[in-house]
Amino acid sequence: MNVKIAPSILAADFTQLGDEVQSVLDAGADLIHFDVMDNHFVPNLTFGPPVLKALRKRFPETAFDVHLMVEPAERLVEEFGDVGASMISVHPETCEDVHATLASVRARGIQAGIVLNPDVSDDVVSTLWDELDYVLVMSVKPGFGGQAFMPEVLPKLTRLRDRIRSDARDVMLEIDGGIGATTIRQAAQAGAEVFVAGSAIFNATDYGATIAELRSLAA
Ligand code: DX5
Ligand code: ZN
Repeated sequence: MNVKIAPSILAADFTQLGDEVQSVLDAGADLIHFDVMDNHFVPNLTFGPPVLKALRKRFPETAFDVHLMVEPAERLVEEFGDVGASMISVHPETCEDVHATLASVRARGIQAGIVLNPDVSDDVVSTLWDELDYVLVMSVKPGFGGQAFMPEVLPKLTRLRDRIRSDARDVMLEIDGGIGATTIRQAAQAGAEVFVAGSAIFNATDYGATIAELRSLAA
């Protein structure tokens, strides 16, 4: 399995955001997870396209994984496309036409994903398989970092993994929420290969050792 570790900068020290990104990249991060919240779809407000634009300028080669928790999602897809997102995921319930939204992400050469909240069934993926590059399974209710992992989403992950395998599809499975040393292995066994981790990485004193530990637990 090709394990990818995606630190969520939601848990970074915002007074030195660029240096925090540099530190996790130096420590072996594969992607930078960028949580966009709107105080409407979720009860929290974070950062938007100007912040990604600044990071993209400093990190031209880095894969930025944009997780949109905004409603409606469509207009921000355009804006994040313009400022250099590498991947964009949307919650289907935030899209007027999720097919059109995914198509507009891909039309920009960006990988397109959908995000499934803990209470959203994997059935929604059944009409979208040919339109997406990854599925992000939420293992917390979105809105905040530092919440406890919800093991009840693991069967959903496994159903998706089995479906991807049996249909030989080129779709990645990502998991987000409460991922750390005590939870990453079960998520990996259930089928995830991309692991978002915010507090587990940024609250650690040694980012390199933490990312290496997570990677080996997931492998
Ligand atoms: C939650 C966000 C997550 C969050 C994860 O709504 O989507 O990406 O940053 O934080 P931890 O790893 O602390 O659960
Ligand atoms: Zn996220």
